[in-house]
Amino acid sequence: MTFDNELELHKIKDIFPNARMVIRIRCDATVAQCPLGMKFGCNPYTEAPHLLNVARSLGINVVGVSFHVGSGCKDPPVFRKAILAARQIFDYAATLGYNFNLLDIGGGYPGDHGTSIEKIAEIVNLALDDYFPDPSINIIAEPGRFYVSSAYTLTCNIHSIRAVNVEDPVTGHNTVNYMYYINDGVYGSFNCILYDHQKITAQPLKNYTNGKLYSSSIWGPTCDGLDQVIDNIMLPEMVLGDWIVFENMGAYTLPVASPFNGFPIPKVHVVADENIWLLLKDIFPLSEDHFVIGNTPTNLRLGLDIVSTDPWSLPALPITIPVCRNGGLIEEHVLDFVRPIE
Ligand SMILES: Cc1ncc(COP(=O)(O)O)c(C=O)c1O
Repeated sequence: MTFDNELELHKIKDIFPNARMVIRIRCDATVAQCPLGMKFGCNPYTEAPHLLNVARSLGINVVGVSFHVGSGCKDPPVFRKAILAARQIFDYAATLGYNFNLLDIGGGYPGDHGTSIEKIAEIVNLALDDYFPDPSINIIAEPGRFYVSSAYTLTCNIHSIRAVNVEDPVTGHNTVNYMYYINDGVYGSFNCILYDHQKITAQPLKNYTNGKLYSSSIWGPTCDGLDQVIDNIMLPEMVLGDWIVFENMGAYTLPVASPFNGFPIPKVHVVADENIWLLLKDIFPLSEDHFVIGNTPTNLRLGLDIVSTDPWSLPALPITIPVCRNGGLIEEHVLDFVRPIE
């Protein structure tokens, strides 16, 4: 368990004195989509030494250091600073008789289409080589959006449209702006606009041959005026029933969605490209007992569509995941319960 304050240490001492504890330090990225440091992490230089002394005097087993530089980190060099700070705490802890063996480098890694973890990986690997060359130290990370962000694409349906005449302040001519109302909004998947500060990109599913673009806004379905998805975007003239596609909707979206105003939380269709499905079928012992094979709507013809109706009523599935290192199979991990995603 992590701690970053003294009270927590006393509480752990009372409730779970044998816990193995990790001190969480603060080292903030200069730019991050969701900073975390204002809530978690002690100052590595002014607070951590005192906390370690308290832990020592209480006989608490502290085994390492953790940090999270901020989710959606746009400041890769911060990882070096944080790893250096962790090194200094490892060294200080050693003077108290601790023998730390865990460094947790948290999350903050990008996951959108077109992003890469390479820059951060290069900085992290170099800093680890410099400050943590000892291979007996366990280095772990907690990637979140890195895994899931680009895995989900949201498609929304237009259920209402308002055409608003606006006078162009320069030419004095009347132009039309379109307001598109769709079946998901900030109370659903797009809560990420409010809570995760995500920048949303929208594109129509269909190709519109005419090519003319209009200033448009996109709105969610609820009664709330705040329920706006995009306030100004150039889009072709679309019609009722058309679909709008939003990429990178996998991180910090559905888990926070609510059915406010009676609008259901979006249904997830697990869609696998046919080649990927063939590969997965060979690796995982999946069968139709574990999935319901559904029909992808024609406008979403991406490949094979596997729709789970009720994942909790499906049989648990032991899955063996082969782990390859240096090109060879060296071990297998068995997951007890793997269920299709709903
Ligand atoms: C403690 C902790 N670890 C990991 C994560 C995942 O972070 P990210 O999605 O930036 O990788 C979070 C996100 O808030 C977190 O609070």
